[in-house]
Amino acid sequence: MKKVITYGTFDLFHFGHLELLRRAKELGDFLVVAVSTDEFNIIKGKKCIYPFEHRSKIVEAIQYVDKVIPEENWEQKRMDILSNKIQIFTIGDDWKGEFDKLSDICDIIYIDRTKGISTSNLKDNLASGN
Ligand code: CTP
Repeated sequence: MKKVITYGTFDLFHFGHLELLRRAKELGDFLVVAVSTDEFNIIKGKKCIYPFEHRSKIVEAIQYVDKVIPEENWEQKRMDILSNKIQIFTIGDDWKGEFDKLSDICDIIYIDRTKGISTSNLKDNLASGN
């Protein structure tokens, strides 16, 4: 069985997130999603609308997702890949090149982002009333 892993915040879950998860699952048979905790988002400089508990439950309910784990720091990826016996690490191409150093333990695939939608844009539009 080919196992795939991806990482993200998934705040204000939108169509771009759904597409990313659909295409990630297509790469293999079993999809693990690491959802950033609220504490880790602070480190990343992101402030979420939905708390971790809600974001992780929404991601868990998506039909393409087989398992959700918390993402608590930048360094855990290598351990996650080994302990979950992952063959493919995937993430949107806004991260292109960033995780190539993991290629000694699994394949790295950057997926094209869905154009025209992002949580940051949604938040800006909601704030400005557009
Ligand atoms: N993603 C995507 N297409 C989009 C938005 C996000 O493929 N239009 C992907 C990202 O590349 C990432 C995953 O979905 O692999 C989770 O994205 P997230 O970390 O939640 O970021 P964004 O939705 O881009 O939000 P932000 O604007 O806050 O960065």
